[in-house]
Amino acid sequence: MADTLTLRRPDDWHVHLRDGALLQAVAPATARQFARAIVMPNLSPPVTTVAAARAYRERILAAVAADPATAESGFTPLMTAYLTDDTKPEELERGQTEGVFTACKLYPANATTNSAAGVTDLAKLERVFETLERIGLPLLIHGEVTDAEVDVFDREAVFIERHLAPLLQRHPGLKVVLEHITTAEAANFVRAGGPNLAATITPHHLHINRNALFRGGLRPDFYCLPVAKRERHRRALVVAATSGDPAFFLGTDSAPHPRSSKESACGCAGIYNAPFALESYAAVFEQEGALERLEAFASEHGPRFYGLPLNEGTITLQRVDQLVPQRVGEGELSLVPFHAGELLGWRLAGG
Ligand code: NCD
Ligand code: ZN
Repeated sequence: MADTLTLRRPDDWHVHLRDGALLQAVAPATARQFARAIVMPNLSPPVTTVAAARAYRERILAAVAADPATAESGFTPLMTAYLTDDTKPEELERGQTEGVFTACKLYPANATTNSAAGVTDLAKLERVFETLERIGLPLLIHGEVTDAEVDVFDREAVFIERHLAPLLQRHPGLKVVLEHITTAEAANFVRAGGPNLAATITPHHLHINRNALFRGGLRPDFYCLPVAKRERHRRALVVAATSGDPAFFLGTDSAPHPRSSKESACGCAGIYNAPFALESYAAVFEQEGALERLEAFASEHGPRFYGLPLNEGTITLQRVDQLVPQRVGEGELSLVPFHAGELLGWRLAGG
């Protein structure tokens, strides 16, 4: 077996970089692993305007430049607009024309962290969808219904049936990414969709099923949204990610929260996987005997869907065991990385 794996530089098509001191703490981890990243807009307040996205992009670039390990990385944050009931299509179009918005993000109101200002009814966004379809700006969707009477493990499948399928019928030209898919239903729906429909898949949904949340007690570090599902769903995601189908690509959904927010009577959803994301994906592809398809998933399918150039240059993963630390970062900003305390069989060279 080869001792190294060299890939075209990959991108992360879904990440939460946060703001302030947390941004400074986590942005270098992403910039070390990825050339570009689609940055989620669910700050508080959310990034709803061109001006806010431009200012956030500057803060991200400053955070990456402030760390000697990533100052020369050339990392490019790709910004997204947070959709609300009141989003003006003109603002999205202007953001795209001015080179600020690469996509926009639809959170159903109250589906997840900082989504209170999200969309209460898709019908309110008809003009927005018409514009997106016309200008080719991708719509990234957190695909879960929020109705309290729908079981939390069914919320993705119900969203697809009730909202996504009708939306795509009304707007066949809309470019849609169903983000961080967690079910066989989602994988099948995306596989059967046309070239305008794609999905991102996280490392954690490839590694864990819902048992992880309860192993030996309640485990907040495995709690994220959409929540992990049964083993048969995890298997369906592994098959989709490693299949070579261009509709599936890498999006970590790395979503760090301070310890005090995770270990709480009402703990926040989110798994911090940025520091070892590529190693985590490589472990899954290796287990499936599909390492030769990792590059397409990590570095080709995403840019092709977004209509962006493939990255130049390469990264190299070395086949060596690395023990993932229990914590990364200091003090208040000490975070538990995904795979904490586990051995991963790969290491990103230069890290
Ligand atoms: C994300 C966050 O914390 O911002 N949490 C998560 O569990 N993935 C929001 C999201 O993507 O749902
Ligand atoms: Zn997310």
